[in-house]
Amino acid sequence: MDKLSVGLLGFGTVGTGVVHLLTNEQEKFRQQTGTQILINKILVKDPDKIRKIDQYNQLLTTEPSDIVDNPEIDIVIEVMGGIEESRKHIHTALKNKKHVITANKDLMALHGSELLQAAANQGCDLYYEASVGGGIPILRGLTDGLAADRIKKLIGIVNGTTNYILSKMSHHSVSYEEVLQEAQSLGFAESDPSSDVEGLDAARKMVILSHLAYSIPVTLDDVVVEGITHVAEEDILYSKKLGYTIKLVGIAELDNGEIDVRVAPTLLPTNHPLASVDNEYNAIYVYGHSVGETMFYGPGAGELPTAIAVVSDLISVAKNMKHGINGQHIFLPQNEKKLKPADS
Ligand code: NDP
Ligand code: HSE
Repeated sequence: MDKLSVGLLGFGTVGTGVVHLLTNEQEKFRQQTGTQILINKILVKDPDKIRKIDQYNQLLTTEPSDIVDNPEIDIVIEVMGGIEESRKHIHTALKNKKHVITANKDLMALHGSELLQAAANQGCDLYYEASVGGGIPILRGLTDGLAADRIKKLIGIVNGTTNYILSKMSHHSVSYEEVLQEAQSLGFAESDPSSDVEGLDAARKMVILSHLAYSIPVTLDDVVVEGITHVAEEDILYSKKLGYTIKLVGIAELDNGEIDVRVAPTLLPTNHPLASVDNEYNAIYVYGHSVGETMFYGPGAGELPTAIAVVSDLISVAKNMKHGINGQHIFLPQNEKKLKPADS
């Protein structure tokens, strides 16, 4: 296996970062995997759009089957977003025995178990590290690094856009609208930023984290969600005067054998480790029964940090192919669901 062929679904913020890394770090990846990783095709909506990287324009297609049904392609990277279309493309890719990497938390939170089961059935890899925490290897942290521990509590700043908005509003005198636009132009916000500001994006990430931390099939309906749309400038200023910082925080907690998952703007004392996580940075505080306190911190959104997570998954797939162990890492919930009702 001296060459691996990759098809990308999407060439926006994250796709551009992936293409940048695959172009500029080729030699490093070849040394790590013993294989040359080549881009075969890239799916886009508008092939005439001016692209930040234009040397692959001849590889652009608007026809998904050029990728998911293409026998030359070994690995599909889904960075187009949305739910139903990407779900369909991933199923087709898996049916055609292609390994899949996705950054799509909306999809993984809703249909993760179904897709992971489909991948396992085909002996294919399905990695999704970029879906939570951008460049922070939190999924591997939970499934590998802390695999031996029993997780008692996760507290996460897992949405870069809202953290960017709240921290800019707290440190500078800028309006909510102005700073949301900034987050959009920097590529942190979702194409529909209401999922960021209303807390849904964070809730989806908490679903993924709880699934991995507690090995239970959590769904979005199990999560109590409140976003930041009702946080006023005065709330931020008064909390600051009282020694607190407002952060949009996701909490998943094991309490008397039941899991409680929620997302809400929360007052943190300014000396709390999560209070100093600013801008688009994310942090996930993990409290394990034996390890005690740990904190995973880093850039939670944006072109290159997210692309690093995607391409690191790609390197894992290439290594698995070399050793013939694809599909063996797949982690499906093992425990019965025991959740606190969302309205308790
Ligand atoms: P963008 O909106 O920047 O890019 C989406 C890309 O997919 C574009 O190239 C677009 O084509 C293409 N596309 C979208 N829909 C279709 C379709 N129906 N058919 C063909 N092509 C399509 O998104 P991002 O790169 O920001 O995000 C991609 C994924 O990564 C999402 O799931 C997002 O939630 C996730 N993610 C994003 C992060 C970030 O910081 N941005 C961080 C972590 C995860 P065209 O260019 O022609 O419009
Ligand atoms: N819109 C998301 C955020 C992108 O702001 O965190 C990263 O998942």
